[in-house]
Amino acid sequence: NLKKLWGGRFSETTDPLMEAFNESLSFDKAFYKADIIGSKAYVKGIEKVGILTSDEAKVLSDGLDKVLEEWETGKFEIKMGDEDIHTANERRLGELVGKVAGKLHTGRSRNDQTVTDFRIWMREKLKELSTILKELIEVILVRAETEIDVLLPGYTHLQRAQPIRFSHLLLSYGFLFQADYDRLQELYKRVNLCPLGSGALAGNPFKVDREYLASLLEFDGVVQNSITGVSDRDFVAEFLFWCSLVMTHISRLSEDFIIYSSAEFGFVTLSDAYSTGSSIMPQKKNPDSLELLRGKAGRVFGNMSGFMMTYKGTPSSYNKDLQEDKEPVFDSHTTIYSSLKIVAAVIATMKINSKNTHAALTDDLLATDLADYLVRKGLPFRDAHHVSGSAVNLCEAKNVQLSQLSLSDLQSLHPLFTDDVSNIWNFTQCVENRSSTGGTSKSSVLAQIDTLRAWLKK
Ligand code: ARG
Repeated sequence: NLKKLWGGRFSETTDPLMEAFNESLSFDKAFYKADIIGSKAYVKGIEKVGILTSDEAKVLSDGLDKVLEEWETGKFEIKMGDEDIHTANERRLGELVGKVAGKLHTGRSRNDQTVTDFRIWMREKLKELSTILKELIEVILVRAETEIDVLLPGYTHLQRAQPIRFSHLLLSYGFLFQADYDRLQELYKRVNLCPLGSGALAGNPFKVDREYLASLLEFDGVVQNSITGVSDRDFVAEFLFWCSLVMTHISRLSEDFIIYSSAEFGFVTLSDAYSTGSSIMPQKKNPDSLELLRGKAGRVFGNMSGFMMTYKGTPSSYNKDLQEDKEPVFDSHTTIYSSLKIVAAVIATMKINSKNTHAALTDDLLATDLADYLVRKGLPFRDAHHVSGSAVNLCEAKNVQLSQLSLSDLQSLHPLFTDDVSNIWNFTQCVENRSSTGGTSKSSVLAQIDTLRAWLKK
């Protein structure tokens, strides 16, 4: 223990079980680069206030570059007692440059160091996620453009409701992902603040210029309170929630297409590239990609709720509990990264069986339009709804479709029905009627595409 960075006040050694329990290097080594970047900025920060001569600063900075190079070339050797990425890098720096390495941590604590690393790491990931989220929206747009003339039954309660354009359905997800993108940019603002210079909790005693550190590290500003600096993990909670919400969208979309790919629906056929077979039933082609997307939403939620349980119990400032902030984020990040790519690929490659979607359009889907027909003739909608409902009822009794009811059948239900009621039995006309903003008519759907594309190009 005497050899440990904090070993001075200890006389007994750590139980090996505790050693393993306590270490975080096995996962926080993901911060190796952020940690070096942060340390190099800190070298400049303490040079500026006279803790380091410029020669010493150069020795430390060059040494840190060497440590980084070792990581990047896979030559960094992890040694017994390397507790986390911070102690590992500092230990190695000492081996490379000697005693002067001991000056690096002046006024700094791993408490401000670890969260600085985390924020540097996360902002890079947020940029990357923003890009692939936009790629997904682009895939949705292209598909919405090509499938503009495909109609299918729209569902509420998973019961047949009204005809819609396939593109309209796809775009409904496109707009959710757009909001996810915006939320990510909001989060970025809160992530991109610099906690370095907060010290252990009370601030930096060497008058280090925190605004200078922040600008060297390309943060938008500093965290204004040192206690907040070391212990605020709201950005972690927000990220985990963001992942959960995106996975909710992906999961619901997956659920749609899993149902639509069943033989009973047959609306879509997944590409072989994103399906797998059965080891026993030769005929099977299972939508495993979509099922995994739906399933992985669960683990992402678990990461969020697990972290929240940890976070809520901590008293002010840094507590070791906060070391538990990283693994859920890494896991959710890996999951969301691959999920966004897979869902885009599934949408881009699936076959849409327009023959089946059109065959699934039956007259019941026009019952609302039958009521609207009477409304256009002056009947209040409540009455019209009732008449149309009676027509559906009559169909069930006669075992026919709505369009097969004779004019006299309809007139027995209401005198306002005339010959022109036959115009109702037209699915294209039905969708074209919904031409207000956001509706399912061709012009409304094309306008949605334009809106989203203009946003995408911004
Ligand atoms: N590995 C620690 C973490 O991830 C670094 C901070 C440890 N600080 C301390 N005083 N023990 O949170």
